[in-house]
Amino acid sequence: MRLRTRKALLNFAFFGGALCFILYVNVIQSRHVDKRRFAWTRVRYSTTAVNLPAAYGVCPGLASSAKPALVVSRVAADGNAEWTDRLSELYHLCVYTVDGSREERVTHLQVPANRGHEAMAYLTFLIDNFDDIPAAGTVFVHGSRWAWHNDSPEYDNAALLAALNVSAALAPSGYHNLRCDWSASTCAPDYGPPQGSLETSVNARLQPWAARAVSDAALSHALSALFGGKLSRKDLDARVLLGRRDAVRAQCCAQFVVSRERVWQHSRDEYVALRQWLLDGSKERRDGDRTPNKDAAPADDRIAGRILSYIWHIIFLPIDVSTGQDASNDLDLDRLNALACPRADECYCRLYGRCDLQGCDEPGTCRGQYILPPDFSLSDDWAATHS
Ligand SMILES: *[C@@H]1O[C@H](CO)[C@@H](O)[C@H](O)[C@H]1NC(C)=O
Repeated sequence: MRLRTRKALLNFAFFGGALCFILYVNVIQSRHVDKRRFAWTRVRYSTTAVNLPAAYGVCPGLASSAKPALVVSRVAADGNAEWTDRLSELYHLCVYTVDGSREERVTHLQVPANRGHEAMAYLTFLIDNFDDIPAAGTVFVHGSRWAWHNDSPEYDNAALLAALNVSAALAPSGYHNLRCDWSASTCAPDYGPPQGSLETSVNARLQPWAARAVSDAALSHALSALFGGKLSRKDLDARVLLGRRDAVRAQCCAQFVVSRERVWQHSRDEYVALRQWLLDGSKERRDGDRTPNKDAAPADDRIAGRILSYIWHIIFLPIDVSTGQDASNDLDLDRLNALACPRADECYCRLYGRCDLQGCDEPGTCRGQYILPPDFSLSDDWAATHS
């Protein structure tokens, strides 16, 4: 009898223990899945390059300027940069030509390589002018005045930048994308499968030519390589890789405004690391290297550039908004997603003074403010007919 009691007790203890273990595992998992916290707070990528690029991107007069900086990333095909000259009353101009001829090198600032689209100019500005970032903020834009993604009925960036209220744009969180409409972004819930999902990786394999599917699928590894670096999962407070259900919401098209405080929440070395991630992954570097760096950016510039366009807000939105009670240095993805995609009507009013708009029934659009042109392009004579 005593033996049977002991057996029963033992069984009870065993099942009790198993139950506790299962509950514990579930709680741990749900904590990770529900709160979705990520260690994307520091750029921890370490370069394999022996020499770092020299500073050819120091913007003259920036240190003594009271205006916000306008960092322009232009290619020769953008034509003359006159349209930006006319903005010089409002902004301190820092114009980078990423594929400049020898003549242009005299008048425009330079980047180490034409790589990662606008990202190379943006990062070169941040690195070479780190101590002189204006207190009034910095606006980052492309070099073409007319582009399908500029959020005005006429697609005119000159008009948008003239109307932009920089201090109002920076007031809520120190970072704002220049687009308010959600089309072509990953903000809308119906954007597609989450970047970390199985469906995304299958799509990328089935359609290797589709830049969107491939860059969506490459995002998780890039986030891990950039923000995890060589640290193991044990060393980090939170995850770096995307889970199957994790979607990174981001505005489109990599034109935005940032405060000095938000720029300085990272060190200059972190921006150097981010630029090296791009440079180390370039085709020239990969071809010349006997052991190419697997953690560097994808060689295809469309993919590398697109990945960075998903990441700017992760770099610049306040790191400390979501640290929570446990004060661990990580980011809450749901909070990040909400900050990355403000409502279109609030955005138009705050940034461009277009307030009390009609037809803003959905969070991502206000009727008549922006229309996505067919095939994401403007007609060839657009500039001639709208100047
Ligand atoms: C910019 O927005 C601020 C409010 O944040 C306002 O006080 C200021 O008048 C605006 N500037 C212009 C030029 O509209």
